[in-house]
Amino acid sequence: MKSLKDFKVSEIRKDFPILKEKVNGKNLIYLDNSATSQKPNQVIDSIKEYYSKYNSNVHRAIHKLGEEATLKYEEAHEKVAKFINASKEEIIFTRNTTESLNLLSYTLKVGAKDNIVITEMEHHSNIVPWQQLCKRTGAKLRFIPIDKEGKLDLTKSPIDNNTKIVSVVHVSNVLGTVNPIKKICKMAHDRKALFILDAAQSAPHQKIDVKDLDVDFMAFSGHKLLAPTGIGVLYGKKKLLLSLDPFLTGGGMISDVSKNDSKWADLPNKFEAGTPNISGAIALGAAIDYIEMIGMDEIQRITKDLVTYTMEKLAELDNISIYGPGSEDRTALISFNLVGIHPHDVAEILDKEGIAIRAGHLCAKPLMKVLGVNAVCRISPYFYNTKEEVNYFVSSLKKVQEVFTQ
Ligand SMILES: Cc1ncc(COP(=O)(O)O)c(C=O)c1O
Repeated sequence: MKSLKDFKVSEIRKDFPILKEKVNGKNLIYLDNSATSQKPNQVIDSIKEYYSKYNSNVHRAIHKLGEEATLKYEEAHEKVAKFINASKEEIIFTRNTTESLNLLSYTLKVGAKDNIVITEMEHHSNIVPWQQLCKRTGAKLRFIPIDKEGKLDLTKSPIDNNTKIVSVVHVSNVLGTVNPIKKICKMAHDRKALFILDAAQSAPHQKIDVKDLDVDFMAFSGHKLLAPTGIGVLYGKKKLLLSLDPFLTGGGMISDVSKNDSKWADLPNKFEAGTPNISGAIALGAAIDYIEMIGMDEIQRITKDLVTYTMEKLAELDNISIYGPGSEDRTALISFNLVGIHPHDVAEILDKEGIAIRAGHLCAKPLMKVLGVNAVCRISPYFYNTKEEVNYFVSSLKKVQEVFTQ
């Protein structure tokens, strides 16, 4: 199989039709991949093929089209399972990371004496569901703090014998910090707590082996790793998934129903009530094929190289604050502020240059408070971005500063 070493990025870019688009009359420079990645033709075509050649419902139809749709849908579970070193029945398709975490917050059991531990660098999707669970049960929500560099301060971990759930982000969507998951997972397990990994920002950038990390559950979204929106993944250890009650109930998730009672279907169907996002799941399978064709190690190397390069270029600017650790401990993204210029103004001016970045609280308001800001700018390259694009972005930032000092 060819890897990216055998391709040129210019060739790879041809697979992504949107990268040829003009925005405001300029070539699109898409640096907002942490929000959602772009999609290659192979993924777009897989959706078209499903709807034009074998559109049908899964699991129920006794006809050729239904058989094919079911086969491809089940194949998608297998591809995701292999992607993270799990087994097929441990892969539940959801809409996104948010839904995966909500599923857990509605099915895991905690009591009034228990506590749930998260961190100060979580996305709202890994905060609000736990706040709600605490409100329903009286459990307490506790936070692992961050240090000045933007890394977790594990010496101040609140994990104790009453901790039932520890849920932590792998890569912060604001700081880019890569957290020491194996270590925190062990800290949770030493206290008999369950460990949940939010892999929304890491799954697109690095190989994840759930067995090696020993996480109990893991959530990620397809749309950040080349797949369409509306398809997400919840991984869970088989014995844990078997022990949980279902989240949503109805068709597709039962093995038997009588007037007053029902029995659940085998995994993963037990957690996939109703008609699923069939085309999304198949397209996620196509996205994983694409990632594997390029090679995840190559993707990681290229993105990390781009992030390091961007950090060096940004360091040339005066009056800039960069949040989070140095290049060694970060990946995927860089958040910053230009002193005295609102992030929305920065993003708006860059947009006129065809450059798409993210600006705002990045769905991490508690972290913004810790950082002492209301909003930041964020750039997040992926393997199809280039150093030329980074150069144009940095020179455009200088122009933004000039506009505001006139
Ligand atoms: C770290 C992290 N967790 C969770 C999410 C939520 O992902 P989704 O909106 O796809 O559910 C995001 C999205 O940006 C994220 O960055």
